[in-house]
Amino acid sequence: MKLINNSILLGFLFTLGICNSQNTKTAQASLKNNFKGDFYIGTAINASQIEEKDTKADALIRKEFNSITAENIMKSMFVHPEKDRYDFAMTDKFVAYGEKNKMFIHGHTLIWHSQLAPWMAKIKDSTEMKAFMKDHISTIVSKYKGRINSWDVVNEALNEDGTLRKSVFLNTLGENYLIDAFKLAAQADPNVDLYYNDYNICEPKKREGVIKLVENIKTHGGKIDGVGIQGHWRLDSPSLEEIEKSILAYSKLGLKVAFTELDVTVLPNPWDLQGADVNQNFEGSAEMNPYPKTLPDSIQTKLAERYASIFKLFLKHKDKICRVTFWGVHDGQSWLNDWPIKGRTNYPLLFDSNLKPKKAYNSVMRLKELQNKELVKKHALKN
Ligand code: XIL
Repeated sequence: MKLINNSILLGFLFTLGICNSQNTKTAQASLKNNFKGDFYIGTAINASQIEEKDTKADALIRKEFNSITAENIMKSMFVHPEKDRYDFAMTDKFVAYGEKNKMFIHGHTLIWHSQLAPWMAKIKDSTEMKAFMKDHISTIVSKYKGRINSWDVVNEALNEDGTLRKSVFLNTLGENYLIDAFKLAAQADPNVDLYYNDYNICEPKKREGVIKLVENIKTHGGKIDGVGIQGHWRLDSPSLEEIEKSILAYSKLGLKVAFTELDVTVLPNPWDLQGADVNQNFEGSAEMNPYPKTLPDSIQTKLAERYASIFKLFLKHKDKICRVTFWGVHDGQSWLNDWPIKGRTNYPLLFDSNLKPKKAYNSVMRLKELQNKELVKKHALKN
């Protein structure tokens, strides 16, 4: 009997990944292996990473992540540069990269007011806009039908107070453009998961806006499967309470929750800027770029603690969360080095610019190992 119990326990340890250190060949310690069974761990990849030009980064991506999002190349200005011309060269490579590495592939993004091709921004009336949306969404989604696992159908449609943002889409079609977009995407691929994605949607007013938007799409017969919380966060905000309220509120709508663009800035933000509006840009100064060479250990620790508390919350709600994606592979590549001020040195991710794991990486990994040990203890006590 004792023998059977021991072998059951051993099997249990293996599934938890706890035997990793002794059995490096079976399951290497990595983010994707540690959180297997909880949620996908994703990263946004840039053009050179898609083309496997950076071999060190490529090895890291394959080791640590099991989901990818294209940081830019799937956006309208790149994929649909002229009215009658699509350019799928890079998107084809992106999807092939994900398939080759057996990754969950996320499409970003179909309808967004930023990074539009110049011709799209000039669309003036509803007839033209309807034709654009039908062509754009149907062509792209059906091209990758069955190969892309989820899509950001609409990105950043809301203002901070939860009302709809003025955009070329709202101006020409009114609020029904959201319903149309989700219907067109579902027609093109009925099985792909469809998301609404935005920043700052853990803030109460904007969260209410998301809830209204989702309910409106559903009431009018649109299919929506999830909410993407971008997660461009700071060391001290948003609070864990607001993040938790948001996970609960969105999943109560019957939707999957994904954290789609996670990064935590450590740089000063004198304008109390909360969001991730790519069109907001400010002048730089030495004061605004306090850590040009290295990050002081005290801030490194703060970042590690912030990531640990965020992931602890994610684990608490792992039944509602299907993917956590970082916005970039390593600090050297992060968009936060150039936004909202160009040319700063930021440290928002789990890997430094030499691709080495940071304290924040260890804190996230340790969290999961501790949880596994607790489970084993409980299991041992039961027997
Ligand atoms: C950013 C990219 O990271 C940058 O390279 C690009 O210059 C601007 O866009 N919200 C989004 C992402 O949905 O697409 C944005 O990505 C960051 C904010």
